[in-house]
Amino acid sequence: MSQWMSRFGKPAIRALGGALIAGTLLWSLATAGQAADIPRGKHGDATAEYQLERLQKLAPYSDFTKSPTGFDPVVWAAFVPEDNKLTPERVELGRKLYFDTRLSRDGTVSCATCHDVTRGFTDQRPVSEGIGGQLGKRNAPTTLNAALLQTQFWDGRSPDLDHQARQPILNPVEMGMPDEAAALKAIRDIPEYQVSFKKAYGRELNYEDLGRAIGAFERTLIFVDSPFRKFLDGDSAAISPQARAGFELFNGKGRCMTCHPMNPSNPLGTDNRFHNIGVSARHQDFEGLAKKALKAMAEDASEQKLDELAVGTDLSELGRFMVSRNRADIGSFRTPQILNIGITGPYMHDGSLATLWDVIDHYNKGGEANPFLDGGIEPLALTEEEIDQLVAFLFTLTDVRFAEENQREFERQQAAAKKQRPVRNDELAKRKTLPFEQRVAGAKNKDK
Ligand code: HEC
Ligand code: HEC
Repeated sequence: MSQWMSRFGKPAIRALGGALIAGTLLWSLATAGQAADIPRGKHGDATAEYQLERLQKLAPYSDFTKSPTGFDPVVWAAFVPEDNKLTPERVELGRKLYFDTRLSRDGTVSCATCHDVTRGFTDQRPVSEGIGGQLGKRNAPTTLNAALLQTQFWDGRSPDLDHQARQPILNPVEMGMPDEAAALKAIRDIPEYQVSFKKAYGRELNYEDLGRAIGAFERTLIFVDSPFRKFLDGDSAAISPQARAGFELFNGKGRCMTCHPMNPSNPLGTDNRFHNIGVSARHQDFEGLAKKALKAMAEDASEQKLDELAVGTDLSELGRFMVSRNRADIGSFRTPQILNIGITGPYMHDGSLATLWDVIDHYNKGGEANPFLDGGIEPLALTEEEIDQLVAFLFTLTDVRFAEENQREFERQQAAAKKQRPVRNDELAKRKTLPFEQRVAGAKNKDK
């Protein structure tokens, strides 16, 4: 039990009237996929104090004279910008900023609200909640290992972490600062920051360095030490026979590795490219949206506007098209990393799939038919046993430091999947009906 539990939890539960109720209460909180005994704030995120304590126990990368364990120094150097070498001062400043709600307009939201240490460095919600309880249109990816991605955001509209960190602060549905000056004003008069910025970058506080510091902190969040990695390194008993069968399916019948390559030189499991796998096709009129997007972007072509449209409007569903304006990119999103996937649900750019069983059901039926669907997506005819094997494999990709959370989430998802498999479609998976036939048959057969 945490400190909080002994301080507030027990008396509160006693007041509710006894062990039975306490059991029910803890159980119902636990079914939300998150530990019940964590002190939480307004947006469901753990308090900053609690998150920082947990972060320390996780022991992120901290000896900057060496590359992180398992990384070749030359490879690692490619992920660190020339103008932002890692130093303890920069990382410490970035950590402060990451947890500081003063960077949001109403003082309730920080990066850690949506990229919460206790929730797999995401928020474990379908879409994120920002200032004033506003909901965005996209699912928050994890900041774990984001340093290793070639582009940032689902549509890759940001080139790196230092640049990425400057966007959410100004986004109206996330942290909502009207402009850079307002963001700086919120922290400029805090003596501690004046000193830390000087120490970290040798100059006065400014918006670019703010982004750099947060980026530096995020580069310490390297969590690639999974049971699967031990397996790849030669310890064949590190994962179960069921998960090993899953890995074979991943590389074979499931064809997952064509977009999610998983090997020692590519630990993340992403090709860093953009594909339409038929997630956003569920309810979209792509042509209409594309017209609207081009018009909106002709009126205002700024980076900030693009961020606003992508996160806060229906145009979100166009994905990479909003960046490239290439029709072939309509509805396509960057292949996400699949490390730590067990603890970062719900899944997909819109958070529309609740469990990893749902994810495999989606692929098994060949995605949602649409004119822009990637050629690599087609019905897979996986059996129930094979689906379980693939899921077992995916749960071996979580860093061992999150083993407990991973196990808890596995059990929660398994129970949920036993009750409900909303996107399962055996007819399509086994090719008894073909996707285009179902499309032609019209809405009455859709989603069956
Ligand atoms: C209100 C919730 C919210 C807040 C606050 C927030 N984010 Fe995010 N974050 C998201 C969402 C949603 C996305 C995906 C948006 C997209 O792809 O268009 C995202 C994407 C990211 C990514 C890209 C990861 C990837 O896989 O591409 C990084 C890195 C990130 N956020 C870091 C931060 C940092 C640093 C801050 C604070 C300055 C922050 N976020 C504040 C919700 C939030
Ligand atoms: C054609 C490329 C492609 C193939 C093949 C593919 N994926 Fe994906 N995967 C993607 C893309 C792109 C996304 C994000 C799509 C979106 O959000 O609209 C994704 C999302 C996911 C996610 C959710 C990640 C998250 O953080 O939300 C998981 C898990 C996943 N894929 C596993 C698999 C498995 C298992 C297979 C094989 C059965 C597979 N993928 C096959 C490209 C692919």
